[in-house]
Amino acid sequence: MLSNKPMIIAHRGAKGMAPENTLAAFRLGLSQGCEGIELDVHLTADEEIVVCHDMTLNRTTNGKGLIAKKSLSEIKTYDAGLWFGDEFKGETVPTLDEVFDLVPDSIMINVEIKNSYDGRMEHKLVEFLRRRNRLNNVIVSSFDHKCVRRIKQMESEAKIGLLYQSKLLDPTAYARSFDVEVYSLHPYFQMLDAEDVLKATESGLYVYPYTANEVNDLLHLTGFGVSGIITDFPGRLKDLLQTQDS
Ligand code: G3P
Ligand code: MG
Repeated sequence: MLSNKPMIIAHRGAKGMAPENTLAAFRLGLSQGCEGIELDVHLTADEEIVVCHDMTLNRTTNGKGLIAKKSLSEIKTYDAGLWFGDEFKGETVPTLDEVFDLVPDSIMINVEIKNSYDGRMEHKLVEFLRRRNRLNNVIVSSFDHKCVRRIKQMESEAKIGLLYQSKLLDPTAYARSFDVEVYSLHPYFQMLDAEDVLKATESGLYVYPYTANEVNDLLHLTGFGVSGIITDFPGRLKDLLQTQDS
């Protein structure tokens, strides 16, 4: 089922107005009416799945170093909100469990795998999604297409999405060339055209471009009939779609 109205997907939470990939950012996205959230995951030294964009803590916390070299308990001692604003002091790097506890089942969660960690992430994530019983409303995406293919091979119920940054000749043909079912395309928004969207949606693929924030771009993509838009400003997209309705 493909609808005309794009799903509002909060990129790393409402990243434009709160520190990315924190519970505060996800809460804000939900309060602004998002219907999905996008987040990025890494593995700690003790193999916990945590939500962070970069491989290191340097940019988004007051800690330093590789996530993969630190235990969860050490990572939890660092502040992940202060860099964005004093009012976010006390935010920490959340575990994936904490985000799933916060986000209602009705909200789609797009888990972007940043690193396979030699295949360990795929195993941990599949185990996690089975335990949380949330396979039906989660999309696992990655720029590493072999990685998401492994996810689908391990768990046939998983929905997988292909992230890409280039202008592909025929994204639908590419997705359909996989020996497993691909659920969605996640193109960089400037690399998408109306023909790509039409062909993909007619073939049953969902199309979720990232990361569009400007009103003109949001309108443009909505006009293409995309399935959803990954945005740092979910409230802005919500207002725009409401204006179109009235
Ligand atoms: O999943 C869409 C988008 O988040 C991909 O790029 O760098 O923002 O994680 P990035
Ligand atoms: Mg991402």
